[in-house]
Amino acid sequence: MKKILFLFLALQLFLTGAAFAAVQTNQGENMNGSKLLIAYFSWGGNTKHIAEKIQSQTGGDMFRIETLTPYPADYNETAYGIAKKQHEEGTLPPLKDNGDVSQYDIIFIGTPAWWHEMAPAVKTFITSNDFAGKTIVPFITHGGGGEYTIHEDMTKLSKGANVLKPLVIFGDGNSHTDDEIKDWLKQIE
Ligand SMILES: Cc1cc2nc3c(=O)[nH]c(=O)nc-3n(C[C@H](O)[C@H](O)[C@H](O)COP(=O)(O)O)c2cc1C
Repeated sequence: MKKILFLFLALQLFLTGAAFAAVQTNQGENMNGSKLLIAYFSWGGNTKHIAEKIQSQTGGDMFRIETLTPYPADYNETAYGIAKKQHEEGTLPPLKDNGDVSQYDIIFIGTPAWWHEMAPAVKTFITSNDFAGKTIVPFITHGGGGEYTIHEDMTKLSKGANVLKPLVIFGDGNSHTDDEIKDWLKQIE
């Protein structure tokens, strides 16, 4: 009976320890002790999909960048209406929440290519936070145009940050995307 009780207690301790370890690795910290944030804007879901893949490989915290006034669900209204106007006028749309990067060392920033540049909401996110001394890791999804000058533009906007090589994905990626992310993370580590 004592043996059974002992085994039961040992199992309890093991399970509690495992749960605690899982929480620890889910606090946005990587193995080097850096705090990671994955911030992304996504209208159609592709960038969100990639953000989730990066999250599952890095264990970082997630932050969805959302405009105070949501974009319409209609593609033409968003793409050829509001987003085009914002691109032409250099508008920085207000966000629901500007986020807070102060407690993070490494911030992954995801954006779709919108009119040959990062989405305006991502510009608002970058300009309303202080990235000095931090590392930014961009990831970009696009519809065939590639990365444009988004890396350079992020470097200019996020004054004082070290902006690393972006991950560039067509659409929502393909069956090799997990491996591509793994290789890219290895390269930039
Ligand atoms: C407003 C708007 C502008 C876009 N402009 C471009 C562009 O200039 N170049 C490009 O390759 N794709 C462009 N696209 C396609 C998106 O970059 C691509 O579909 C992206 O993966 C969408 O990401 P999301 O699903 O996270 O919103 C545009 C899409 C929208 C809605």
